[in-house]
Amino acid sequence: MGLRRHALHEKVELRIIDQPTDEVLEQLFRVEVSAHSDPWTYDGIKECFTTNTRCIGLFLKNKIVGFAIVCVIYEDSELFTIGIERKYQGLGFGHKLLQKSLEVCRELGAQKCFLEVRVSNEVAIHLYDRYGFQITGTRKRYYPATATTPVEDAFTMACDLTKLDEIIGGIDSAATDTAADTSSEITPQA
Ligand SMILES: CC(C)(COP(=O)(O)OP(=O)(O)OC[C@H]1O[C@@H](n2cnc3c(N)ncnc32)[C@H](O)[C@@H]1OP(=O)(O)O)[C@@H](O)C(=O)NCCC(=O)NCCS
Repeated sequence: MGLRRHALHEKVELRIIDQPTDEVLEQLFRVEVSAHSDPWTYDGIKECFTTNTRCIGLFLKNKIVGFAIVCVIYEDSELFTIGIERKYQGLGFGHKLLQKSLEVCRELGAQKCFLEVRVSNEVAIHLYDRYGFQITGTRKRYYPATATTPVEDAFTMACDLTKLDEIIGGIDSAATDTAADTSSEITPQA
């Protein structure tokens, strides 16, 4: 890991957000709009705070730059959404946030996690694959066309949370090996 990237990671905190204030909801909405081509509305995010859901925020120097929302019902969980503010993408924050989100699902008793993802979303699919998600099917025309995005199919994916520690261990040891091999520096995208 490069020095600047390492310094950024040291300032990152992952926290569960419950009972968000209007100011926190504004921050979540700002991240949502920055991260997604077809963002949820402010009210859509607000309605996600229920008994069965958890919102995990990724804070950089106390400012939210990413968040995920999961829903857990008995042994099943679903990743509703995950996003990192655009200028902080590609720095490893998605890894941190997904890992924490899956750990939260498991702590709440889930053994499986499910999600849907646009078939064109190669970065997200790659990240999910790293955490053991496998494609289980395709939902045709699942995402309707919007002003900025065409109609698109979704892959359904699922992972086995009982193997999460093993998977995280594999990712962490690979990252340690890579860090020892590189001194490259990465700056947030403008
Ligand atoms: C998908 C998303 C959450 C990933 O978070 P991120 O912080 O950008 O990703 P990371 O830096 O942790 O990298 C995750 C993996 O993707 C790879 N990756 C990241 N950006 C990439 C890019 N632009 N091109 C190719 N690979 C990329 C990384 O190399 C890493 O792979 P590795 O573990 O094999 O090294 C983030 O890009 C995002 O918010 N995208 C928009 C919203 C979205 O699509 N959400 C998912 C669907 S709801």
